[in-house]
Amino acid sequence: MAALSFSLPYAPVLNGALRRVPPWAVYLAGTLPLAWIVWLLFHNGLGVDPVKEIEHRLGKIGLQFIVAGLAVTPLRRWGGLNLLRFRRALGVLAFCYVGLHLAAWLVLDMALLWQQALGDIVKRPYLTLGMAGLVLLLPLAATSNDWALRRLGGARWRQLHRLVYPAAVLGGVHYLWLVKAWPPEPFVYLGAILVLLALRLRR
Ligand code: HEM
Repeated sequence: MAALSFSLPYAPVLNGALRRVPPWAVYLAGTLPLAWIVWLLFHNGLGVDPVKEIEHRLGKIGLQFIVAGLAVTPLRRWGGLNLLRFRRALGVLAFCYVGLHLAAWLVLDMALLWQQALGDIVKRPYLTLGMAGLVLLLPLAATSNDWALRRLGGARWRQLHRLVYPAAVLGGVHYLWLVKAWPPEPFVYLGAILVLLALRLRR
């Protein structure tokens, strides 16, 4: 039986245009949100609590890159849009922003009080979940290069990189857990993550 396939109306045109975009351009574009945060910092644009604002913005951007990376396969399978060449850049950027998010918390919020930071990570479930998500991203970041891909072999490398699925869920639940009221945004992120994962089950 022929596989059911869909295609976004302008997918072939977009694919043609995207073939001319080098992956380094995605890395470069990915630094813009960070540059924007730095610009806001030096122009008093981060509100009354700049530390919280920096922390929040970095965490949100990290989550957005995780979602973008997860969307690559469903977009190709269900929309005919081929963004595979950019997936590594999206993953590396996600890891960098989540790493900066942790660093901002450790340096600006916890003033490098390691014992207290560790105690908080153990005591507060939303921090435990976030940390677990980051730890799962570590081996992915470490093997996001051609050398590691060759050493591991395609099958094992792909298997290892499925760790992004639980990492994304942990990141989404971390966000949902820390909000006090029930704003829609964390539900939208977690919902998007779950839908993108569920689409993988439907081949
Ligand atoms: C996959 C890993 C992670 C993701 C995707 C993530 C994402 C997020 C997001 C989206 C927010 C809320 C931003 C907003 O409200 O606009 C947030 C807040 C926060 N995250 Fe993370 N995070 C991760 C890991 C961590 C880790 C490892 C830590 C520290 C151990 C951490 C500490 C915090 C803190 C302290 C807040 C702010 C809480 C508050 O407002 O009181 N996160 N994170």
